[in-house]
Amino acid sequence: MSSSPCCQEFHEPMPVLFAPFRRVKRFRLFESSLGALGFVLLTAFLICGFFYMDNNTDFAARFGPNNMDKRPKRFNWLQMNGSVSGEGRVEFLEENGGGCDLFDGNWVWDETYPLYHSKDCSFLDKGFRCSENGRQDLFYTKWRWQPKGCNLPRFNATMMLEKLRNKRIVFAGDSIGRNQWESLLCMLSSGVQNKESIYEVNGSPITKHKGFLVFKFRDYNCTVEYYRSPFLVLQGRPPAGAAAKVHTTLNVDKMDWNSLKWKDADILVLNTGHWWNYEKTIRGGCYFQQGMQVKMEMQVQEAYKRSIETVLNWIQDTVNTSKTQVFFRTLAPVHFRGGDWRNGGRCNLETLPEIGSSLVPNDNWSKFKIVNAVLSSANTNSMKFNVLNVTHMSAQRKDGHSSIYYLGPVVGSGPHHRQDCSHWCLPGVPDTWNELLYALILKSQACHTSNM
Ligand SMILES: *[C@@H]1O[C@H](CO)[C@@H](O)[C@H](O)[C@H]1NC(C)=O
Ligand SMILES: *[C@@H]1O[C@H](CO)[C@@H](O)[C@H](O)[C@H]1NC(C)=O
Ligand SMILES: *[C@@H]1O[C@H](CO)[C@@H](O)[C@H](O)[C@H]1NC(C)=O
Ligand SMILES: *[C@@H]1O[C@H](CO)[C@@H](O)[C@H](O)[C@H]1NC(C)=O
Ligand SMILES: *[C@@H]1O[C@H](CO)[C@@H](O)[C@H](O)[C@H]1NC(C)=O
Ligand SMILES: *[C@@H]1O[C@H](CO)[C@@H](O)[C@H](O)[C@H]1NC(C)=O
Repeated sequence: MSSSPCCQEFHEPMPVLFAPFRRVKRFRLFESSLGALGFVLLTAFLICGFFYMDNNTDFAARFGPNNMDKRPKRFNWLQMNGSVSGEGRVEFLEENGGGCDLFDGNWVWDETYPLYHSKDCSFLDKGFRCSENGRQDLFYTKWRWQPKGCNLPRFNATMMLEKLRNKRIVFAGDSIGRNQWESLLCMLSSGVQNKESIYEVNGSPITKHKGFLVFKFRDYNCTVEYYRSPFLVLQGRPPAGAAAKVHTTLNVDKMDWNSLKWKDADILVLNTGHWWNYEKTIRGGCYFQQGMQVKMEMQVQEAYKRSIETVLNWIQDTVNTSKTQVFFRTLAPVHFRGGDWRNGGRCNLETLPEIGSSLVPNDNWSKFKIVNAVLSSANTNSMKFNVLNVTHMSAQRKDGHSSIYYLGPVVGSGPHHRQDCSHWCLPGVPDTWNELLYALILKSQACHTSNM
């Protein structure tokens, strides 16, 4: 494509996706690079947290959606509108901002967030509408991602829609990809006056839909599409002669048929990960297949690795990367404590991020290491895609999940109720992934234009 200085980072070898993860102990927080500011912030939040527990309803009244603009006095002394933390850094979109690692940074409190309110957005599944489902604290909506080396552009829906004019942006992957897709629909629609001008092209409702959904922004002639494909590779009937216990197979060397519909998108955002476990595969009679052979012995991790290789080869060989800008979003961590999703794992009492650490309970990071290994062993010089490296930043956001608030307030409150510590409340963490996507798209278009 190009070799102008500001674009180099996109084609530069990606050395190691996941540096070996350190398990950072909690007390590391106080000696971390966050320094005094972080400590002050945290203290302030602990105080506010207690205030919240004591004074729940008053808090809701102050912070409730209708009161967003009345900034409580107690926060004013902190002066945390973001401008403080942004001082002295280069802007990512400026010419010399190109070398900045957007994914290395911190969560900072920012009163100007969230970017939208779920009640104003009709494109959200009920399960992501946490505040409407009874979640009272809104802290989780107020963290902005601050890269260490530069400032991100503030998200501007009009600007992004202009960039998407006459284009297709496609998300393909599991329900966390859907989480991100719905976030983008809300972020973009916040910049459109006439909401009637945004519609699903086949008239399909947004909820409980399993195939694909294509939303059109009429005034921009652009579509924002989602294709459900939790494995990205092809799942199908077993070949003739397979053992009786093989109900379906995942073809680790073939892409999902739907990939035909993705490959010509202008922007393609892929993800896969959460379904690569024993429960969702072999236990249900779904084995792995290579060529015509069912590999009865192949373990999930090996199959996951081969499938990511298949995806990367497909990007290399089948996608026209001069036309299609491809993003591979890394796995978003789950935060179950005291069990997993089946047996009482919870996250509903989390109201603060794990600032300054990457502690993720109940996870070996084994899947992350697999992705890392595949990406670093790929021919890095010819990699024609961007990595949305969200794992680390999202690992800190144990406060961001739907927990019991994926259901209405009454139903969800039972002590033995299953919690959702995989998906994210919206507005929330996936908005940040989209802000990064926005920054990278603007950057690459700026480079493209300057090369012409
Ligand atoms: C992803 O982000 C983590 C945390 O900042 C970093 O250690 C790692 O090197 C990043 N990987 C890539 C490919 O940028
Ligand atoms: C914070 O924002 C308010 C209004 O948006 C502004 O008046 C104030 O100067 C800002 N504070 C800092 C430290 O930038
Ligand atoms: C957002 O972008 C549009 C179109 O480029 C521009 O006209 C508008 O001023 C921007 N809004 C803000 C708040 O920067
Ligand atoms: C609308 O966008 C599509 C691509 O998504 C393009 O093929 C078509 O020509 C555009 N229509 C107009 C009127 O520009
Ligand atoms: C790839 O896309 C570019 C830009 O749209 C186009 O000029 C080129 O002809 C395409 N190449 C192939 C092989 O289709
Ligand atoms: C960590 O990995 C080991 C082996 O890879 C496995 O036996 C163990 O159950 C894993 N622990 C967790 C908490 O996932």
